[in-house]
Amino acid sequence: MAVSLPLFESIAPTGTREPLAPGAWLLRGFALDAAAGLLAEIERIASSSPFRNLVTPGGKTMSVAMTNCGAVGWFSDRRGYRYTEIDPETGRPWPAMPGSFMKHAHDAASAAGFENYAPDVCLINRYEPGTRLTLHRDHDERDRRAPIVSVSLGLPATFLFGGLARKDAPRRVPLVHGDVVVWGGPSRMRYHGVLPVKAGEHPLAGARRYNLTFRVAR
Ligand code: SIN
Ligand code: FE2
Repeated sequence: MAVSLPLFESIAPTGTREPLAPGAWLLRGFALDAAAGLLAEIERIASSSPFRNLVTPGGKTMSVAMTNCGAVGWFSDRRGYRYTEIDPETGRPWPAMPGSFMKHAHDAASAAGFENYAPDVCLINRYEPGTRLTLHRDHDERDRRAPIVSVSLGLPATFLFGGLARKDAPRRVPLVHGDVVVWGGPSRMRYHGVLPVKAGEHPLAGARRYNLTFRVAR
């Protein structure tokens, strides 16, 4: 696969692999062919475990709506951030991870140099225009050797990719429908976030951005 080193942060052509940091890659358009199928699965998953706006331990309601599929799901309330086997809102197990999700995450990790990736959870974020995700690290997973695989669908967004310390100035990475970002190895614990999503209309997703983040949590 071609490695591109753009001088400017322009959007590189589909199919390029752009290094973001050691162990972190942007795979432009990697999910384009799978996108319609992934969106249909999101709808199916949300019909059993609906999107909801979680409350942080500090009592703030998150603007981004979330659900999960997999053996566990990420959840937050006044008691803290954690992975649960049961969706606390439905009282049932989280929907199983579809085979297509698993295969896609595995292939993306492999394209970024991480072989044998077998995530046990996919956190699904839904962004409406104006919603954002503040800088954070994904630190609730027990297995930190495995990378995070992040798939962008629907409206575009600016991804903030920071350093290992909160104060490190983040790089602004424009992400569009079908882009995949993988961060692992020395970059696994980097801060990251998403700037407020701009209003727009996407032919497959409407006025929304969806993001899938695959993790090995247990
Ligand atoms: C996340 O950090 O969980 C999601 C990142 C994104 O939406 O691109
Ligand atoms: Fe995250």
